[in-house]
This record gives sequence, structure tokens and C-alpha cells, in this order.
Amino acid sequence: MKRLEKEFAVSRTAMKKIMEAFCSEMEKGLAGKGGSLKMIPTYVEMPTGKERGRYIALDLGGTNFRVLELALKGDHKVGRPNIMKFALEKKHMSGSAELFFGFIADCVKDFLKRYKLPDDRPLDLGFTFSFPIRQTGIASGILMCWTKGFAARGVVGSDVVKLMNKALARKGIKNINISALVNDTVGTLVAKCYEKPDCDVGVIIGTGSNACYPEKLSGIKKWHGPGNRSGQMVINIEWGNFNKLAVTSYDRQLDRNSNNPGEQILEKMVSGMYLGQIAGLVLKDMGIEPDSFETMHMSEIEDDATKDLRKTRALLAKLGLPKTSIKERRLIRKVCGIISARAARISASCIAAILTRIDPDISGTHTIAIDGSVFEKHPTFANAMKEALKDIFARKAGRIKLALAKDGSGKGAAIVAAVAAKR
Ligand code: GLC
Repeated sequence: MKRLEKEFAVSRTAMKKIMEAFCSEMEKGLAGKGGSLKMIPTYVEMPTGKERGRYIALDLGGTNFRVLELALKGDHKVGRPNIMKFALEKKHMSGSAELFFGFIADCVKDFLKRYKLPDDRPLDLGFTFSFPIRQTGIASGILMCWTKGFAARGVVGSDVVKLMNKALARKGIKNINISALVNDTVGTLVAKCYEKPDCDVGVIIGTGSNACYPEKLSGIKKWHGPGNRSGQMVINIEWGNFNKLAVTSYDRQLDRNSNNPGEQILEKMVSGMYLGQIAGLVLKDMGIEPDSFETMHMSEIEDDATKDLRKTRALLAKLGLPKTSIKERRLIRKVCGIISARAARISASCIAAILTRIDPDISGTHTIAIDGSVFEKHPTFANAMKEALKDIFARKAGRIKLALAKDGSGKGAAIVAAVAAKR
């Protein structure tokens, strides 16, 4: 346990090192000089809060997929969205492009029917597609690679809006106009900023992990496109691929066995798809082998406040460990705590790096919009992030607010669609 604690610890000095490395990788990425951060210009500007109208959004990027309709009221407020959720199955995630986009188009069809949306006048739609997309415009972009275990064939290298449009046409849907293609971090940022103008970082810590922020056009050295109204553009960092982190033998093992070895190193240390897997590997090393171990289980175990860890005992029994001693349960709980604390401190360090780029002295207030199952559901994650920010910024950490942005990725896509449709 001592060895584990040491290997997984992220000290204050380590956090400062992460910040430095992160800043230098951001700079490289913005200059188009390689490095592990793609720093993708998104063609998206920050909203004014005055955008209005009804828009549809498609939100795809994790195990769940959602279609929603949202009313923007034009005074920093949005109505309650109509939402339909669908589960993506393995066969969709790793079949052909036709099957994948065909399924999504079918879901859109169900949604239009259920909410009786018209089929005789154009409907603007914001498409949240949460993977590394090289944007070629506000409503077009090419998939660079899959992440998070997705593997549908014939999508990498293609424009996903074109593929989506083809699928809609195949299913006989003629009045949908995809007016924006956005990443989930961008949606999350834009949605929160619509209501709270001091929001300047969007973060996802869910199945995958990533962040975005608005950068001055003059700071994007690789940008050769036209200027815009605000002189700023949101950058999708794709921080999941950050690789300047100290890894353990467990991280290496996980990476080797993944379907994208060498890629998404930060994501493999921080996000919900992998945290449970790391815990599984550590437990295995200790001679404890549950049938399966997921991030959700870590949350449940760390949330168990009973004296004899009764809930943990029941959960472990379900996972194929019928007889555990209190000592073992405490040990397992500790392992979970060590792994989730590292994830929280790494994420906080990267947020700190972004903030120092935006505002080197942290002289203003900053709202960080965060969504994703790990941030939302893990019992101590948000707090551990706050503590880490205090370690880094001392009293100035009080100027930084971590705000849950529930369903932001879809809502934000609707807002971006509104801006783009006006244009
Ligand atoms: C993965 C994707 C990224 C997305 C993140 C969170 O890292 O590559 O685009 O934002 O997951 O869903």
C-alpha cells in the first residue's frame, strides 16, 4: 500500500510540473509544431446570451446518445429541453459507417415523431460529435481517429456531417439542416457561458476526458483563416492525448492492452472508461480478482459510509468475491481512493495550466463548466479537484468555480447552431 500511495501520488511540485509541460504542449499545438495536444480550432465563438429560437441537437460521444430540442430565450436563459436517450450497442460502435449513422438517423426520426416536429420546414440542428475532429468549417470536419473504444469502419478520414446527411437522406428525413458540428467540451463551455459570462473553460470527465477554452486568434499561430467578430475562437484541446505524465506499471499494462496503445495517455489515467480498469489491475496484483470492476463500482465503494463497509461487501459479492474480510474491504477502498485522487489532481493541474494561459495572474473570476459521469457521480472527485486548485493557487483558488454543466454538450450544440444558422 505504501508503494502504491507513492507511485500514484501527485504532489504540489508534480502538479506544477504538469502545468508547465501542459502549457508548452499547448503552445506547440497552437503553432502546428506537433506535440501531444491537437489544439483544434473549432470555428466557434463565445455566445452573447442573446441567441434565440428553437433548435435541435444530436449528442453523440459516449455509451449514451441523445437527441434534444431546446428553446433559447435570448436573455441568458434556456427552456427545459425535450430529450430522448438511446443506448449505443457494440454492433453500432464497431460495425460499418452505414450501420452507425443509420442508427443515429433512425433515432432522429423517432424523436421528430415523438415530439411532432414538422417535416415541411427546415429544422436547424447542432451536432455534438465528441471525438478528435479536424474542423474544416463550423459545420464540417474530418474524424482524425476514434477514441473511447469506438471503431466503426469507414469513418476515420471522412467528413462526419456528410456521412450523417447521407444517412438522414437514406431514412427519408429531408428537412434537417446540420448547421454546426461541435465537440462535447465546446457544447459544455458554450452552454454555461450563455448563462454565466465568466465561464471560460469547458471540461468533460466522463467516459472520456477533454477540455476547451477561447483563444485569441493571434495566439493560434497555425490559423490562416479569416478574422471574426470577437477576435477569439474556441480551441478543442483534446487533452485526453496529453502524454507528459509520470505513469505506473499499471498504466503501461492498461495501455498495452487497449485498442489504441500509445494514445490518449491522460484519458487512460483520468476518465470513466479506464479508472475501473486500473483499479482492477492493481487489485489483481494484490491477489484479489473480481469478475469485473468498473469506475461506477469505485464510486459506490468510496461512497460507502457504513462502519463495516457493508455496502462494499454486498457489491464485491456481486462481483464474484463472496467472502471478504473488513481488512480486505478497507484495502480495496483505499486502492480506489488512491486512483481517483490521482485522476482529480491531474485534471485540476491541466485546468490550472489553461487558466494561467488565459489569465496569468488569475486576476479575474473564472467559472469552469464541467460535465461527465466521473465528475458528477464520484463522491469525492469534485472536492479533490478543488483541494488541488487550492494547493496550486492558494487563496486565489477562491476565484475559480467548478460548476456542473448538466447536459451542456447538447444544449451548447443548439446554441452554436443558432449562431451559425443566423449567419
Ligand atoms: C475523448 C474524445 C474527445 C471528447 C472526450 C470527452 O477524449 O477524443 O473529443 O471531448 O472524449 O467525451
